[in-house]
Amino acid sequence: MTERNLEGNRIRGRIERLRIRILGLRGDAILVTHLPNIAYLCGFTGSNGMLLVEPHRATLFTDGRYTIQAPEEAAGTGVRVRIAKKGLLGEVGTALRGGDRGKRRVLFPPSKVSVGQAQQLRAASGPRVLWSSDKNTVEELRAVKDAGELDTMREAARLISEVFDELTGLIQPGITENEIAAEAEYRMRRKGASGPSFESIVAAGPRSALPHARPTQRQIGKNELVVLDLGAILRGYCSDMTRTVFVGKAPRKVRGWYHAVLDAQLAAIAALGAGVAAGDVDAAARRTLRRHGLAKAFTHSTGHGLGLEVHEIPRLARGDTAKLAAGNVVTIEPGVYIEGSGGIRIEDDVAIGERGVEILTRATKEFLEL
Ligand code: GLY
Ligand code: MN
Repeated sequence: MTERNLEGNRIRGRIERLRIRILGLRGDAILVTHLPNIAYLCGFTGSNGMLLVEPHRATLFTDGRYTIQAPEEAAGTGVRVRIAKKGLLGEVGTALRGGDRGKRRVLFPPSKVSVGQAQQLRAASGPRVLWSSDKNTVEELRAVKDAGELDTMREAARLISEVFDELTGLIQPGITENEIAAEAEYRMRRKGASGPSFESIVAAGPRSALPHARPTQRQIGKNELVVLDLGAILRGYCSDMTRTVFVGKAPRKVRGWYHAVLDAQLAAIAALGAGVAAGDVDAAARRTLRRHGLAKAFTHSTGHGLGLEVHEIPRLARGDTAKLAAGNVVTIEPGVYIEGSGGIRIEDDVAIGERGVEILTRATKEFLEL
């Protein structure tokens, strides 16, 4: 059996699991419109497509640009490909019209379909289709990674850790944030990534206090904090890692902040486990920063699920009661942000197992003074 067939068989199991969920939701079919969900279920990586999963067949609707690619990628998954000649929505709707049975309940994700698209689908499918909201059915399947996915994510995390290690040799006064970001993305690709998993963040000096800063032409100065938040996509799977370094010898106060964030990050990792409420992990980080008098400087949530997308469920946010499960891969990324001075964030990717956790990102968390 070829590698592709093995891959296809593994993916085929995903559609079967989805069908069982659909039955549990008393649906007759599901229309999958979010591209990462489609990639997960049938391997298709194009930029336009809809996957209709019915009890006895699954059909990928896409356009003429993917005439060769779509059947190749979906080979072995049991999904048939239909190249739509006149627009996907019309063809999906018409396909659902067929047959002489009674009403059909078709699940769809309202948050991933525009009002205009929903109207077109309803018009094309006619009155026998009852469109019913689905929230996160495919995302819930995706949140639990299998062994093959974990292997890829381990590699993606190792790749970004190596990129960071290389960058530490380049960070010095006079180099710009943009130059460091460009070096990071160049090195990701050289190591086999298809690209960054989000816009790389390189933020120096007071700009490091902006949690989602965009790199600029600003030169890194002496005695400045630099936040590097980088991720790479490897064979479809994302990594996401943050490290904070200091250019020069850090003052005692900045060292204190760094060690407070590291304490909080380790406390959150220690709180992780199958069956633990996501909000309890967030609380562990927040409690630690409160002890250091820095609770107010932590202005975002502790982490998020990671996989085919850089942000997926579960969310590790304040008060979230969702229970973590073995197979989840999450980031743990507390930070403190002091306006006018700078910010510090430390982020790892962590896989949750039945018995303990595995930290996938490898770069050192010692406070580097470069
Ligand atoms: N590393 C970017 C983010 O998590 O939003
Ligand atoms: Mn992140």
